[in-house]
Amino acid sequence: MAKMGFAPMLSVAMLLIGTLAAFPAEVRSIGVCYGVIADNLPPASEVVQLYRSKGIDLMRIYFPRSDILQAVSGTNIGLIMDVGNENLEQFASNFSVAAGWVKDNIQANPGVSFRYIAVGNEVQDSHTANILPAMRNVNTALTAAGLNNIKVSTSVRFDVITDSFPPSNGKFRDAYMTAIAKFLATTGAPLLANVYPYFAYKDDQKNIPLNYATFQPGTTVTDNGNGLTYTSLFDAMVDSIYAALEKAGTPGVSVVVSESGWPSAGGAVGASPRNAQAYNQGLINHVRGGTPKKPRALETYIFAMFDENKKDGDEIEKHFGLFSPNKSPSYSISF
Ligand SMILES: *[C@@H]1O[C@H](CO)[C@@H](O)[C@H](O)[C@H]1NC(C)=O
Repeated sequence: MAKMGFAPMLSVAMLLIGTLAAFPAEVRSIGVCYGVIADNLPPASEVVQLYRSKGIDLMRIYFPRSDILQAVSGTNIGLIMDVGNENLEQFASNFSVAAGWVKDNIQANPGVSFRYIAVGNEVQDSHTANILPAMRNVNTALTAAGLNNIKVSTSVRFDVITDSFPPSNGKFRDAYMTAIAKFLATTGAPLLANVYPYFAYKDDQKNIPLNYATFQPGTTVTDNGNGLTYTSLFDAMVDSIYAALEKAGTPGVSVVVSESGWPSAGGAVGASPRNAQAYNQGLINHVRGGTPKKPRALETYIFAMFDENKKDGDEIEKHFGLFSPNKSPSYSISF
């Protein structure tokens, strides 16, 4: 760097500007989920300011909230917004309900850069039958409103995949996922997937080394099915989703990681600031280059912006935040 003169720097800068102009969407790879199950978070305007000051230009929210939508309006923050699971049955059975939601929350906010609508998050059991009809109705409503640049998908748990090891063996567990994948292939939308190496590690420490789960060197796995070599569990998990999409006959559907993260506290194995920092910083640095199977930027949303003190379940669920509610970082991290 010290030896580099002005002219080469200028041409590098021009090259970068040219690249940015040609592929504006491709350079975005890291977003952060803005979960709000807490009673001590800062106002939305301050949260959006924190995103901007850290250079985080992608956000996921789990339901439409007018103060958040107002605060991101006019910024260049790209948004995933969910249709809450509790709405799916109505959205599936009644087109006007889906169209009303699109009108009230999307058409009413023309200054917001919506990217994807996640119709349901980790929907399970018999409710999975509502996902595709609800997605169709939201998609039809968006198209009718001239907004078919906003892609409709659903956010799935990793366990929609079975036989995920080695990655090339990955396939969908249930037929409803094949039907969803085929719909995504027709609309050009990605599959949104929540991918947590943490839980895989926590449940199987005998077979999963901590370094492999946290982007540290030391473990290499070769997949004889695709000839590729893996150095992180995250890559292996994502590529098993790509393998499942291929087996479903939809190799053109891409994956967006709609949640990933690591707890910094909560008493469970591996939950520490050190491991959370290694994982999340590793994730940020890693996804720009994608996975062995798809070596290009992988759009990924870290879960989550804040520790959430009202979350149900195990204590670790409250400690996934990159920041505490007073906006101080949980550990040092750069975007
Ligand atoms: C569908 O939803 C609309 C708007 O909420 C409502 O007016 C209508 O009665 C519903 N139709 C049925 C069949 O439930």
